[in-house]
Amino acid sequence: MMTPFRNEAFTDFSKPDNKAAFEGALQRVESELGLTYPIVIGGKRIVTSRTLASTNPSFFEQLVGNVCQADRELAELAVRTAAETFETWKETSAAARARLLYKAAAIMRRRKHEFSAWLVYEAGKTWPEADADTAEAIDFMEFYGREMERIGGAGALVTIEGEHNELTYIPLGVGIVIPPWNFPLAIMAGMTTASIVTGNTVVLKPASPTPVIAAKFVQLLEEAGLPPGVVNYLPGPGSEIGDYLVEHPLTRFISFTGSREVGLGINEKASKTSPGQKWIKRVIAEMGGKDAIIVDEDGDIELAADAITASAFGYSGQKCSACSRAIVHESKYNEVLARVIEKTKRLTIGNARNLSTAMGPVIDRNAFEKIMAYIEIGRAEGRIAHGGNRGAPQGFFIEPTIIADVDSKARVSQEEIFGPVVSFTKASSFEEALAFANDTDYGLTGAVISSNRDHLELARKAFHVGNLYFNRKCTGALVGVHPFGGFNMSGTDSKAGGHDYLLLFTQAKIVSERM
Ligand code: NAD
Ligand code: ALA
Repeated sequence: MMTPFRNEAFTDFSKPDNKAAFEGALQRVESELGLTYPIVIGGKRIVTSRTLASTNPSFFEQLVGNVCQADRELAELAVRTAAETFETWKETSAAARARLLYKAAAIMRRRKHEFSAWLVYEAGKTWPEADADTAEAIDFMEFYGREMERIGGAGALVTIEGEHNELTYIPLGVGIVIPPWNFPLAIMAGMTTASIVTGNTVVLKPASPTPVIAAKFVQLLEEAGLPPGVVNYLPGPGSEIGDYLVEHPLTRFISFTGSREVGLGINEKASKTSPGQKWIKRVIAEMGGKDAIIVDEDGDIELAADAITASAFGYSGQKCSACSRAIVHESKYNEVLARVIEKTKRLTIGNARNLSTAMGPVIDRNAFEKIMAYIEIGRAEGRIAHGGNRGAPQGFFIEPTIIADVDSKARVSQEEIFGPVVSFTKASSFEEALAFANDTDYGLTGAVISSNRDHLELARKAFHVGNLYFNRKCTGALVGVHPFGGFNMSGTDSKAGGHDYLLLFTQAKIVSERM
């Protein structure tokens, strides 16, 4: 009998032992940088002549690893291998599959700092952000293991005389798992393990900037005893093999987390029936955000400033949950803005490898250029109240940027920037603030800083986001505590880390026997 699920504790880096252990892990991982990572299909390592260099965004001369790149032929092999392996994997018991996740979680817990160290080097995460990413990956495995045990038995049905009826949740088939780079361990591991614990097999196409972390995770699954072919690791250009995988007739579902543009494209392609396809493909797509924190007339200014600063600049604003809009009641606008500027000035920007760094780089050159272009748009649409410049040239550093006096219809208020940029908009009433907050295509997270009970109740009903927080930051959802997913163009609201999530990877079967 498993113990009840509990969230993995975060590491306290003020303790010298923890600091030394993390530093040791960084040194060990540094000595392993630069290796070549093969494709893994059916447990076989495949080395290709074409590789992609994964580099450290804090210091881009540092090679994290060379990663083999699949073409369509290998994509075909991966899908076929997953389809063949499905025939045996689907027969394993729910309890056995759950045990595999518990084992993988235990191994990761023992090697927690090592995994976090890879996140520091490959994703440019600061120590606490990397530690939280690894903790969330462990949480997903512990949580989904228990969830599979819960739904793995016979489901509850109304009974009738003379019949025995049974409800079971059976797997779907081959899934294509396409994760983003911004939670390269947690989201990738969560999407992958939810797929396999429910009895499916997968082709895992890691995000191009963070394939080494995914390779390390696949090795860990093998160590935990995962049979060959259940997870097939297929790094390669999304634009080249992505469509092929999505459109393949043997693909049964696609679990995607990433941008709106790619997600909508996948949804469209998956809706077309390929020759030989026998099912309607299921698409789970979690996409972008344009998340707002509303500060009410009577909101606590210090709390508001802390919440905005942490949500806007944690992991350089590269979270779908990040606060990219502060919507502040006009009576508090100047004070809140001034406090956020003060707090932002205190953030140390630099190489994520140093514990003193509060904000590291953005992920790559594309992101860097896109964010800098948005800052220029913001310069014309508002007033740069802080930041606005690029940082040290050895990495993709951008100053945390605050754009004040922005109209709620401005491009920087409407389009996802996905970097350390927050706009400030003035509202004349709480109702107007709420209308501004809801006035984008997205609906992922939001927060309200207020002590007005009526306003909080109004927001509870009318603030149209999947994850709404009162009097706290809008990032940092915890598995099981804050199931995560958004409305509108933020996605299918799958609520990862929640009790409904695994059902998305199954189909319900009823067997009715006359007695
Ligand atoms: P992205 O859409 O560029 O890439 C996501 C994945 O899709 C990557 O693995 C990429 O290689 C792959 N891909 C690219 N083109 C493809 C194609 N044609 N077919 C199939 N796959 C393809 O997104 P990203 O830059 O990795 O991540 C950032 C985005 O993810 C942001 O918009 C962010 O808000 C969103 N995100 C959302 C959530 C959520 O839970 N809603 C969580 C994290 C990130
Ligand atoms: N789940 C992540 C958060 O809440 C994206 O910040």
